[in-house]
Amino acid sequence: MELKGKTAIVTGGSQRIGRALVLALASAGCNITLHYNSSVASAQRTAAEAEALGGRIFLHSANLADPSELAGIVTATNQEFGPAQILINSAAIFPKDTLRDVTLDQWSETFRVNLRAPMLLTQAFARSLPDDMPGAVINLTDWRTARPYADHFSYSVAKGAIDAFTGAAAISLAPQIRVNAIALGAMLPPPGQGEEYLQALASNLPLQRVGGVDVIAQALLYLLGNDFVTGEIVRLDGGAHLQY
Ligand SMILES: NC(=O)c1ccc[n+]([C@@H]2O[C@H](COP(=O)([O-])OP(=O)(O)OC[C@H]3O[C@@H](n4cnc5c(N)ncnc54)[C@H](OP(=O)(O)O)[C@@H]3O)[C@@H](O)[C@H]2O)c1
Repeated sequence: MELKGKTAIVTGGSQRIGRALVLALASAGCNITLHYNSSVASAQRTAAEAEALGGRIFLHSANLADPSELAGIVTATNQEFGPAQILINSAAIFPKDTLRDVTLDQWSETFRVNLRAPMLLTQAFARSLPDDMPGAVINLTDWRTARPYADHFSYSVAKGAIDAFTGAAAISLAPQIRVNAIALGAMLPPPGQGEEYLQALASNLPLQRVGGVDVIAQALLYLLGNDFVTGEIVRLDGGAHLQY
């Protein structure tokens, strides 16, 4: 898919990894709906940065836990720019819980934001795409679905379901829409943690370093640009999966 002039939706695009995805798409010439939830100031800053790179940005706030707000992201995008052909499901939560202590509320919230929202958004995206236009969806997942965190139980299960969703959506939406995922390893420290969190992880990796956002942008542009890849999950983990 040629990206210049295409319309993209990025969920959770205000900061951190979502911001890097927005900037990569802006550099490639896309019109972008930058979805955010509560981070208005960061969303505005990222929008200004993306516009300086040549992208056109439409800011849209929605709580992804609420299904009534989801379809509006696609509708508003189509009104602003015309049909969205790219959807990036990046927004997520990363709660700390275990199988012993997770509450029903926490479990449900994790699944609402991390699994149900990407599914409903992908459905709305697919339904709104004109038959003669190709589309592409990228889901952000985690290489640790294969080696789950003990202390991020609901997150690990929901991201594992995102891996399954990627394949199921790819076969369901072929040939018009390709669906792929990027499985991240150590990229940015979780909110509230410093660089030392990542450096401790990096020393144990085969590649002895953490990824950073540039490698995610590279993978994003590859998966969007290559029209023969679907149902693929690209691991960006510095080789972590090789040694466990
Ligand atoms: N950071 C890593 O190293 C890493 C590793 C593995 C996988 N990943 C995955 O990569 C993606 C991006 O990671 P990240 O660390 O950049 O994520 P993050 O900062 O934890 O969260 C991204 C955004 O999700 C949005 N969000 C959370 N709850 C929401 C809700 N109810 N409704 C709408 N938006 C909501 C937030 O938007 P607002 O700020 O506007 O509220 C937030 O900015 C995620 O899917 C994550 O699981 C990241």
